[in-house]
Amino acid sequence: MSEERKQASYAENVRLGEDEKSVVIIDQTQLPNRTVYLTLRTAQEMYDAIKLLQVRGAPAIGICAGYCMYALSKQMELTDYDTFAAEFHRLAEYLNSSRPTAVNLSWALKRMEKVVTDHAGEQLEAILELLDRECHAIQEEDVAMCRAISEYGLSLLKDGDTVLTHCNAGPLATSRYGTAIGPLLLGKERGMELHAFADETRPLLQGARLTSYELHKAGIDVTLICDNMASLVMKNGWINACLVGCDRVAANGDAANKIGTSGVAILAKHYGIPFYVLGPTSTIDLNCKTGDDIEIELRDPDEIRSKFYAEPQALSDVKCYNPAFDVTDHSLITAIITEKGICRAPYTESIPALFKIH
Ligand code: MRU
Repeated sequence: MSEERKQASYAENVRLGEDEKSVVIIDQTQLPNRTVYLTLRTAQEMYDAIKLLQVRGAPAIGICAGYCMYALSKQMELTDYDTFAAEFHRLAEYLNSSRPTAVNLSWALKRMEKVVTDHAGEQLEAILELLDRECHAIQEEDVAMCRAISEYGLSLLKDGDTVLTHCNAGPLATSRYGTAIGPLLLGKERGMELHAFADETRPLLQGARLTSYELHKAGIDVTLICDNMASLVMKNGWINACLVGCDRVAANGDAANKIGTSGVAILAKHYGIPFYVLGPTSTIDLNCKTGDDIEIELRDPDEIRSKFYAEPQALSDVKCYNPAFDVTDHSLITAIITEKGICRAPYTESIPALFKIH
């Protein structure tokens, strides 16, 4: 890896380890109290880091998966293409099974797998070099995409505006800037005065632990609220726009994002507030016709019963339903903001048009 590329990747929250056989991440479950870096060496450690949300946010999961596949390839020390390709495929399938909803995970793994299949039978040394380039390209492209999304998002805001956001779609969830948080960070750089309300985002509190932390650190005026306070702040007339990220967008514009997002969209519609979904085109899955085709991850009930409490707040055997995401119907979405431009209804026309732009 070139020195320049090394430096660029080392600035990020997900990066290749110096030995190129490991991946280093910021453990997002420890924030905001501790900044802890984890070195992931085995496929099991990588799988667990994604599953347990130590690395999370759709684009960051994709970036991490790309680096993981390269690091695991470097460890293989094989000379035979067929054995290498079979093992590569097995490991990619394994990582892909860690979380089902964010399409960026399978998207990045497919990109890495394509490098291997497109060079069938070639020298493994050459293939490793190409995999090295591909995993860094995934991250570098994400930086550029987030920047473009932030520009488009900012074009929809004016000085003095207050936005409400849900979950965390900032730099920690991506590379730099983030998606839904990007316009706020870019606006700040340009001297604009923008304000934010961050939903705490039950049950895993990404809004409290990560979004309010990132915005506060960036010097942006942020107010943390519980999820059930969103209606009141909207009613008070304090919110000019809602900005949220996405984990998978269907071809008709239905958008899966953190559980509770669809409720925010319904409230926004009620109060006449624009509701924007921001994400890279890699989050759009044309294979899903509608949101009904998106698999929603179900998670451990203890995240609801006890995870962030000093002692459990519910009986240990009480039944829980813990979906990690929900789908916002396209009819509630004012616009979908991507790095290639802003899509508006009818999404069945504006989304395919995006893929014709190079
Ligand atoms: O379960 P998480 O924390 O990975 O969920 C993340 C979200 O829902 C984000 O809003 C989404 O991935 C977009 S990140 C730019």
